[in-house]
Amino acid sequence: MTEGISQQEQLDTVLSTLNLPPALQIRYWREDDMPAINYLLELQGWPLYPNPEKVWRHSCPTLVAEKDTRVVGYVRGLTDESVIMHIADLIVDANYRGLGIGRLLIETCHLLYPTTIVNLIAEKPAIPFYEAIGFEQLPECFVKKPLQRNNI
Ligand SMILES: CC(C)(COP(=O)(O)OP(=O)(O)OC[C@H]1O[C@@H](n2cnc3c(N)ncnc32)[C@H](O)[C@@H]1OP(=O)(O)O)[C@@H](O)C(=O)NCCC(=O)NCCS
Repeated sequence: MTEGISQQEQLDTVLSTLNLPPALQIRYWREDDMPAINYLLELQGWPLYPNPEKVWRHSCPTLVAEKDTRVVGYVRGLTDESVIMHIADLIVDANYRGLGIGRLLIETCHLLYPTTIVNLIAEKPAIPFYEAIGFEQLPECFVKKPLQRNNI
């Protein structure tokens, strides 16, 4: 993020370089988006976090895609702003898939922090999507499971 420019100005600059479909808005997450975010999570069959607002407040960039005032997708990233960005969550409403929204959400995150290398753990069905948008699959990825239950 460039110093001296507000987060919103930086996002507006990035979005002005992208071709957004009609009536689609990409904006920063707000706490009142949480029900819509949880709804998309539930539809996808993914578990809800115990304290999702806290998780989202500690994440960056946190963007939603809104079509005709309805949240139809979101991305939650984690970044040090210069070297690495991890995509923790990405979902597009099943009724709005194939319209380029997933690509736009990832592209927006990367353009906000263009010097970062972007990584993620993909769900198997999403692998062709990540390949289509320029990700390379590496075999050397390691994960370590949590040490205790998350009661935040
Ligand atoms: C994965 C997901 C986010 C993709 O979002 P989307 O908005 O439908 O994707 P886009 O329309 O931006 O697609 C971008 C490109 O990926 C391709 N693509 C998307 N899904 C694909 C699939 N399942 N198989 C093959 N290609 C796919 C598109 O054809 C498009 O390629 P093109 O630009 O060359 O035409 C969406 O399917 C989703 O929410 N899935 C369920 C949740 C999930 O798996 N999230 C990722 C967890 S790691």
